[in-house]
Order: sequence, then structure tokens, then C-alpha cells
Amino acid sequence: MATSWNGLSFVLAEESYMTLIAVLAVTVLWLLWSVSSYFRCRNRLPLPPGNFGFPFLGQTVEFISALRTDGMRQWVQKQVDKHGPLFRYRFIGYPVVMMDHPEGNKFVFQNEGRSNHMFMPSHMATLLGPQSLAVQTGERHKLVRRYLNKFFDRGAMIRYINGVNRNAIRHFTNHWQGKEQLVALDVIDLYTSPSICNLVLSLEEGPLLDKFLEEFHAWAGGFFSLPITLPGFQYYKALKARGVILKMLEELMQQRRQKIAENRLPEALETDILNSLLTVPDDDGNLLQDSFIKDNLLLLLITGFDTSSTTLALTIFNIAKHPHVYEQILQEHRLILEEKLRAGKDPNMWTMEDISAMKYTWGVIQETLRLHPLLIGSYRKTVTDLEYKGYHIPKGWLLKWNVLYSHYNPKYFKDPLKFDPSRWETRPPPFTYLAFGGGSHSCIGYEFAKMSMLIFIHHLVQNYSWSLVNPHYDGPFIRDPFPRPPDRFLISVKKLTTS
Ligand code: HEM
Repeated sequence: MATSWNGLSFVLAEESYMTLIAVLAVTVLWLLWSVSSYFRCRNRLPLPPGNFGFPFLGQTVEFISALRTDGMRQWVQKQVDKHGPLFRYRFIGYPVVMMDHPEGNKFVFQNEGRSNHMFMPSHMATLLGPQSLAVQTGERHKLVRRYLNKFFDRGAMIRYINGVNRNAIRHFTNHWQGKEQLVALDVIDLYTSPSICNLVLSLEEGPLLDKFLEEFHAWAGGFFSLPITLPGFQYYKALKARGVILKMLEELMQQRRQKIAENRLPEALETDILNSLLTVPDDDGNLLQDSFIKDNLLLLLITGFDTSSTTLALTIFNIAKHPHVYEQILQEHRLILEEKLRAGKDPNMWTMEDISAMKYTWGVIQETLRLHPLLIGSYRKTVTDLEYKGYHIPKGWLLKWNVLYSHYNPKYFKDPLKFDPSRWETRPPPFTYLAFGGGSHSCIGYEFAKMSMLIFIHHLVQNYSWSLVNPHYDGPFIRDPFPRPPDRFLISVKKLTTS
């Protein structure tokens, strides 16, 4: 009995002992957790200043309406005045941090692929398609970009330059000669679209190109609209237009494959981008999937269409407002031609050295894009919690790099609202000028856009003078999605007589 009593007391003593240890362990763990979370909270940095506005929508409606009426600079300035150059807001459900510059933009671009990656709101990504270069991230983006980059490097430009020049000469003969008034934006579309369609699909001016253009404009309108998929809404029309364009591309691909199979492909078509996409395998030796080809054809066409035509129309607008700029451009181009003749070169054959010599003209275009950037910025998504300038930015938030603060900042551009191409004689500080983006997603078509725009201006100033029909209109510019006045840059033109 004693033994059993002793045994029981031993068991009880052992149980109490275990219970005590368990209670102590739980208490210690709880204490540790409480202390660590106290310090975590105490040490957690504050969120960037700003507010998220209404649930889900946040500032979406005011943001889109500011964007469409070219009021983004004022909208951002209002937030900057309230919160400073780094602030948070909410856009279609996403928490966003508008980055300050140039440090914020640098922080975003230098950490791409590490703490952040490319992000498109889902309605925009749907319009582009899942295989589009522009929505890829990390290694996949590098791979696709390397593949497509061979169509846009300097070597490719040397192959394209004289085709672009022929296209420019044809354009002025067909669309400017004999005209007294022109809607610059629309007529320049007839230069940039065949240029890019030729490069990508070997497609010349004609009803098919007109149909492409019509659908593309409907498609592009969806980017800055509310993502409502109901008939009548702009986004719905854009989705429908995407479907039509893909069908048209599919037909072109089928016809092209047939010609390749039957060995009756004209030589001129062998060098276009479609031909390479259909015949050149990827790094693993596989031919590309149709969905990949279509999404990327669509991307190259759309990024090449309105971007260069709007930039050229804006440039024409600025030159018309500053006659001394016209004179300086003309002088630069006459000098280039004189040099070519002096060196015994054919003045109608262009080289990339001629393009590099158009320094002042390129300054005029850059100055135009500084004052009227086509894209005011885009989004990256954080993939880890971040600390930036004393603030905590949680994982999953969006960072918006943007141009709105630095492009108009007297710290980086003296007298920033003045149109002054001569400021481009020196380079602005890094990450202050981002008209062509930055980081790994910067504009892949930069060299092509530069070359084709400079060749256009060359033929324009050599052959025409022009003035604005509404010279006193200074804004606001409508953005759909790129900036333009309501008259779409209506100009009076005069053919110059060669002396
Ligand atoms: C004046 C003309 C142009 C301007 C101002 C411009 C501007 C830009 C900007 C700001 C970006 C960066 C977007 C981002 O970070 O989210 C970009 C990307 C891109 N641009 Fe351009 N662009 C122009 C012409 C072109 C042309 C002619 C092409 C092609 C033929 C082109 C193809 C692209 C592509 C494919 C991307 C996406 C690159 C990637 O995600 O890796 N662009 N462009």
C-alpha cells in the first residue's frame, strides 16, 4: 500500500512537475512572442504618408479623370503639397506608392527582379495578352527581351534605315503635296503606321492597314478606361477590338506559313519580324507558339503606332510656336546634306552617323517629350516588405515610377515650363528624364523611334513650313491615351520652293 501510495505520489509529483514545465514553457513562449511583437511594432516604420480614399476604388475615379484631361501634373502636385514627394494612394483596389524622384525611380529600376517586378493592372494585362513581353517578369522577361531585341539593336537599324527613308519620301508625296491644311496627328499616323507595319508584317498602306488602325485605336482606348465589360463601355470595345486584331494576325500568319511551305516567299518579306517569329527557334531550339507570336506582334504594332505619331505631332506643335527652333533645325539638316555632298556621298542614302549628327533636332524631340511625356509612369509590384526613406512598404503593394515630379522640377530643368531644346546640349542628371522609361522594361523600340522620327523631321523641314490653325490653344490636352489638343494638331502647310 505504502509502495502504491508512494508510487501514486511519485506519479502525481511527476505530473505536476510536467504540468509546471509545460505552463512555464507556454508562459516563456508567450512572453517571448509578446516582447518580440512589441518591439516589431515599435520598430516598424510608418507607412508612406497619404490616404487610401474610398474602400476599393480609392482615388481611381479622380486619377483616371485627371489622366484623361491632362491634369495629372496638378493632381500629383496637390498630393506632393499635402504629403511630400513620396505618397500613397489606392488605384482600382491596389495600394500604390507614388515614388519620389530621382531617387525613387532609381530605387525602383535598380531593384527590378529582386524586391519588385513588373506589374500591370489586370485589365491592362488582359488587353496585352499573357505572353506579351511587357507583362513578363524575371528570367522569362530577360529571355523574351533577348529574343526580340535583335530586331531593335543598332545592327537592325542599319538594315532598316533606307527603307524608312523611302517610306518618308513616299509619305510626303502622297499625303502632304498639294495640301493647304492637315490634321497633323492623323496624317503622321499614315507615316508611322506603315513604317512599323512594314517592319513587323511587310504590310503597306491600303485597306488592311486602315482596318488595323481602326481596331488599334479602339483597343488603345481601353487602357485608361474603367475596366467595365458591359456593351457600350470603352473597355468592352477595346476587348472586342483585341479579338478582331488577333484574328487578322492569325490570317496573316496562315498566309505567310503557306508561302514559306510552298517556297514562294518574296525576298522582301524574308527580313520582316513576322518571318523571324515564324521561323527562328527560341534558345531551346523550339519554334515559337502562335499565342506568343500574336501577343508580341500586337505589342510591337501598338507600341510603334501612336507613340511616334503623337511625339511627332507634339514636336510640330512646339516648333510652330517657336520659329527660331525651326530655323535652327533647318540649318542643322542643310549642314548634314552639305557634308554628305562634300564627302562625295549619295544624299539619298542614310547612315546611322547621319542620325547621330541630328543632335539639335533630337534635343527638340526630347524637350517635347519632357514637357508632354506620353507615359507618365508605370507600376512595379513589391515581392518583399521594403524599407525606403524611413517608411515601411509592405509586400504586395505597387510602386509607381513616374516623370511628373522631375520633368517639371527647376532643380533638374532650369525654368522647367519653358520649351528650350538647347538644354539638351548637356545631359540631365540620371533618373530625372524618363520619357522612354528605365530599368529592364525601358523602351525596346527607342532606336527605331528615334531614327524614324528624325528622318521624318528631315524631310518635313526641307520641304514645308507650317503654322497652327489655333495658335493660342495651350491646353488642356486630352489623353486618349496620349496627349493631344481637341483639333488633333490642325496645321496650315506651305510647300517650300527650292532655290
Ligand atoms: C516616341 C516614341 C516612344 C516612346 C515615348 C516610348 C516610351 C516607352 C516607355 C516609357 C516604355 C516603358 C514602359 C514601362 O516601363 O512600363 C516603353 C516600353 C516599350 N516600348 Fe516604347 N516608346 C516609343 C516607341 C516605341 C516603338 C516605335 C516601339 C516598337 C516598335 C516600342 C516598343 C516598346 C516595347 C515593346 C516596350 C516594352 C518593353 C519591355 O517591357 O521590356 N516603343 N516605351
